[in-house]
Amino acid sequence: MADGGYDVADYRAIDPRFGTLADADALLAEAHARGLRVITDLVANHTSEQHPWFVAALAAGPGSPERDRYFFRDGRAGGAEPPNDWISAFGGRAWTRVVEPDGRPGQWYLHLFAPQQPDLDWEHPGVRDEFDAILRFWFDRGIDGIRVDAAPAMAKASGLPDAGHAPGAAFESRTWVDNPHWDVDEVHDILRRWRRIGDSYDGDRLFVTEAVVNGPERLSRYVRPDEMHTSFNFDYLTSPWDAGSLRQVVDGTLAALGPVGAPATWVLSSHDETRHVTRFGRAYTGAAFGGAALPASPTDLALGLRRARAAALLTLALPGSAYVYQGEELGLPEVEDLPEEVLQDPTWERSGRTVRGRDGCRVPMPWEGDRPPFGFTRDGVPTWLPQPPSWSALTAAVQVADPDSTWSLYRDALRLRGRDTPMTWRPSAEGVLAFDRGPSFRCVVNLSGEPVDLTGQGRVLLSSAPCTGGLPPDAAAWLAPDEPGDE
Ligand code: NOJ
Repeated sequence: MADGGYDVADYRAIDPRFGTLADADALLAEAHARGLRVITDLVANHTSEQHPWFVAALAAGPGSPERDRYFFRDGRAGGAEPPNDWISAFGGRAWTRVVEPDGRPGQWYLHLFAPQQPDLDWEHPGVRDEFDAILRFWFDRGIDGIRVDAAPAMAKASGLPDAGHAPGAAFESRTWVDNPHWDVDEVHDILRRWRRIGDSYDGDRLFVTEAVVNGPERLSRYVRPDEMHTSFNFDYLTSPWDAGSLRQVVDGTLAALGPVGAPATWVLSSHDETRHVTRFGRAYTGAAFGGAALPASPTDLALGLRRARAAALLTLALPGSAYVYQGEELGLPEVEDLPEEVLQDPTWERSGRTVRGRDGCRVPMPWEGDRPPFGFTRDGVPTWLPQPPSWSALTAAVQVADPDSTWSLYRDALRLRGRDTPMTWRPSAEGVLAFDRGPSFRCVVNLSGEPVDLTGQGRVLLSSAPCTGGLPPDAAAWLAPDEPGDE
């Protein structure tokens, strides 16, 4: 748990803190019985430092075959400096020097994330074979798909050349071109190999990549016909609440994915960024991994929630698939005041305690009741991150009973959604997004400061705010047009 579970010591087991393989089997069976599918996160760029392979590599010493599964290299400057200038996503350099079995400082190993997450060398045939078997292990158990963690990290340029990072450079992979440790083309060989394994099973097995790369064209490479089915859309997630920016992302996404025949995805939040209710109430409304490198400012949560509700209707109206991060359907805000002593994200320590990291978006769900742990666990048991007492007003139980709650908005939107028709933009005022999906569905999102007159636009099916005086600022509506729109 050096990185919230993204440091795996045994790929064929469940951490006892969470249960057993029998529990996992029961979860799969119960989900399938309800028509739900289950996707497993596969962390293959790196293992835990406690993985038997890494333990053996440390013990075997320099030059041993055990070290070949990872990137062990001699340092520069007589060994005292790291082998190259690569950086960690959590801050600082991507190399840690080991103490050799004889007690002396020795080689360095690569970790693009925390030091407890040593990178595997995917050129090693044993690594490839082992992960083939791991994929089969989980597909055989009945999982329906795989989320590929940190996909662009899995291949490295041969010879591990310097990336040319400036001292103190941030890990901003969306701006990198020809970077030797990110989005290297050989990563696609691995993805094709996995797709063949998925396709060898009956039924649908879905792959989705986490690929934070430089623009939609690079992203489209991950979803070519023989690679992954979908990829999370980080350009959409990181976009500020701004009509021009969002429209550009939508158009760029559809234009890049159309030629490879892949569906778009739309994502507003994940366990790696500040929750969008909080972001959308700030002066700067965009997102970044871990919240790093963003200007912090006070947040207006009422404004953020209005925008989040409108964003939900935009997201669920766009063509493609939508990913909903747990709790966004409750309109949960980021927990910004976690006490320092409970912070667990490695970003906190690695940034010299300047970037708090991702814990604030990971606080456990409030299910029911009037005080923590809100049904997440048994009463009296503290949750792994403390829930704010004020979440008593946001529990699932409270919101399910309230037809105007954010949960009800998501439920109604999910019931209405489900068409497979291309979108067509409609003429609209500055700051307004309006589009049709065929003749019987229209979405209007108001990101301007003025109400939008909906007269003649159709019958309102669903809206994120009351529309009596038109569509207010920071609100969205779904309509059934009076007259058929453009096809
Ligand atoms: C991406 C995951 O979403 C994030 O939570 C994790 O820290 C890194 N990959 C490293 O595995």
